[in-house]
Amino acid sequence: MSLSGKTILVTGASSGIGRATALALHAAGATVHGTSRQRDRVPKEIERHSCDLLSEKKIARLFHKLPPLDAVINCAGKAYLSPISDGNPVEWETMWRVNVHGLALCCQHAVRKLNNHGTLINVSSMSGWRVPPTGGFYSPTKFAVRAITEALRNELRAKASTLRVGSISPGFVDTPLLNDYFKGREDQLNEQRKQTKMLSPEDVASSIVHMLTTPSHVEIGDVQIRGVDQKL
Ligand SMILES: NC(=O)c1ccc[n+]([C@@H]2O[C@H](COP(=O)([O-])OP(=O)(O)OC[C@H]3O[C@@H](n4cnc5c(N)ncnc54)[C@H](OP(=O)(O)O)[C@@H]3O)[C@@H](O)[C@H]2O)c1
Repeated sequence: MSLSGKTILVTGASSGIGRATALALHAAGATVHGTSRQRDRVPKEIERHSCDLLSEKKIARLFHKLPPLDAVINCAGKAYLSPISDGNPVEWETMWRVNVHGLALCCQHAVRKLNNHGTLINVSSMSGWRVPPTGGFYSPTKFAVRAITEALRNELRAKASTLRVGSISPGFVDTPLLNDYFKGREDQLNEQRKQTKMLSPEDVASSIVHMLTTPSHVEIGDVQIRGVDQKL
């Protein structure tokens, strides 16, 4: 599958799923632009950019300097275990601003920057399909990602745009994000690792590559992907 000649932006390219996706797209021949709050954390094969998704201005500046794009993968995100009943509202705000508001802003800028045959993929989660017992405020942010994706798809179809929009919803993926999500419950994370074979970031990246390389009339709306032994 060649993505040669394609120019693609990946947010959250410094770690986990975003990093693996950026490298997989690079290996498939694309010119990949990647963001992180610190550009040095993005792999050197990738065109590196700094962008804090908490800042509307920085997002606007990032898209202003990017060339026309063929695809945008919105991968950056935060996950805290932060219950509705007694979680920390500061964590809620960070998750809302990065996972929802920042992602929606990237979608808006992406629509202007993508060509009419481009593809936009938002990384949601299985927590955007059902609320796990520890879902807390994280889960609502991931439901919102799927809603944003569908809202945008409707708007584009109303304008007769052929830009493709979809999301991907992974279950547990072994990345540094789980350290925040399981903070204070490290034994549960270790147990999870022992009992189940979690997805690797590369597993998710290969599905994203697939979503990008289907024929241009095919739009994949959402991919649910989890380890075969994940229960929920
Ligand atoms: N791991 C899982 O089990 C899992 C499951 C389902 C869905 N997901 C989703 O997959 C996506 C990627 O998660 P991951 O597991 O790969 O996490 P990760 O390894 O922690 O990577 C998160 C990425 O988001 C970036 N980021 C965080 N806050 C940011 C901010 N304010 N501005 C700009 N970038 C920011 C980080 O960059 P810097 O810190 O370098 O700025 C990093 O590149 C997230 O949307 C997450 O919700 C993860």
